[in-house]
Amino acid sequence: MVVLQELLQGVRPGRALDVGTRLGEFAFRLAEAMPAGSQVTGIDNDPAAGAKAQAKFQEKGLRFELMDGGHMAFPDDTFEVVALSNTLHHIERYGQVLAEMLRVLKPGGYFILNEMYRDGQDAAQQVHAAQHTLEARLDCLLGGYQRETWKREEIVEIFRRLPLEDVTFTDFQEEAVYDAKLEVKNRKLADEVEKIAGRPEYGALKQEALEIQRLCQKNGIRRCTQLLCAGKKRQAAG
Ligand SMILES: C[S@@+](CC[C@H](N)C(=O)[O-])C[C@H]1O[C@@H](n2cnc3c(N)ncnc32)[C@H](O)[C@@H]1O
Repeated sequence: MVVLQELLQGVRPGRALDVGTRLGEFAFRLAEAMPAGSQVTGIDNDPAAGAKAQAKFQEKGLRFELMDGGHMAFPDDTFEVVALSNTLHHIERYGQVLAEMLRVLKPGGYFILNEMYRDGQDAAQQVHAAQHTLEARLDCLLGGYQRETWKREEIVEIFRRLPLEDVTFTDFQEEAVYDAKLEVKNRKLADEVEKIAGRPEYGALKQEALEIQRLCQKNGIRRCTQLLCAGKKRQAAG
């Protein structure tokens, strides 16, 4: 991931942390961008994904730990880099997770937030935004938590409130290979709504899923633009 490699050009070798890592999608990119001799750890609080993640991380020589980002077991100032990728909208009390990430980051270390956004997107990307929002609503109805996809300015505001310096914002587009996966998910969208059959929301969400599938046929589907926010933790005064 070229944008990440460019951002981390000046990073010191050491430990890097990916919070909300799922199966390591971002952690593996982080590992490629870190200097030789570094070690990347991914954490996730979903025990269902734990065993699969553990195996994937081991295969790549990285560490995985089942851990809540809001209550981390790492000492203060442990990591050269901390990252949260496409996970902010999955966390209801995200302030606590961001504060924990700051705590375990070394002064001068890099804080990275990567998140897709829904505004200013072309027709094919709007199909992705609508699909993502519908998936989030289904997840909530099934007991999970996901808020609506953020707008770009909302992400910027959250990041600007963190006590960081040398802050940068980079908009980037994933490679087309990821769009094919979205198309596969789109074909299953109306079937996914069957998981809430019998619930009051079922009829409206089924109609919405069918409309998103129709729009996908018409406009195609393309991943929304992502905003890669980066900044360095301020060194203690004195
Ligand atoms: C959409 S996935 C992100 C995947 C990956 N980081 C990426 O960039 O593609 C969000 C992940 O965040 C995890 N998650 C949500 N809240 C969390 C928390 N408080 N602590 C750790 N992980 C959390 C979920 O279990 C899920 O695996």
